[in-house]
Amino acid sequence: MAEFVRVCEAAVLPPGHAARVEIDGEPVAVFNVDGAYFALDDTCSHALASLSEGELDVRGCAIECPLHGSKFDLRTGEPRCLPAVEPVRTHAIELRDGALWVALRREQRV
Ligand code: FES
Repeated sequence: MAEFVRVCEAAVLPPGHAARVEIDGEPVAVFNVDGAYFALDDTCSHALASLSEGELDVRGCAIECPLHGSKFDLRTGEPRCLPAVEPVRTHAIELRDGALWVALRREQRV
């Protein structure tokens, strides 16, 4: 079972914002959607782009890749439109005592 790792203070991630953190050298994107937190692989499944630098769709609970525009569902990691066809991994995220903690899911993308 994955261990939770403290990644940042919650204050650095206000609602409507994203940030890139690293866990054991793996880039992870964390998001705040109106107080609900999500964590995904930061690297797009289509090519080398950082999802935390994309446009956050708060209403749709999705992130748009900054390179070619695929939108990924923050709850499932599934792409909602081309060109990406593979999901990105989602990771468990918790708010504890004012900090964000993420448990990295180790299995490979399918
Ligand atoms: S790199 Fe993300 S859609 Fe192409």
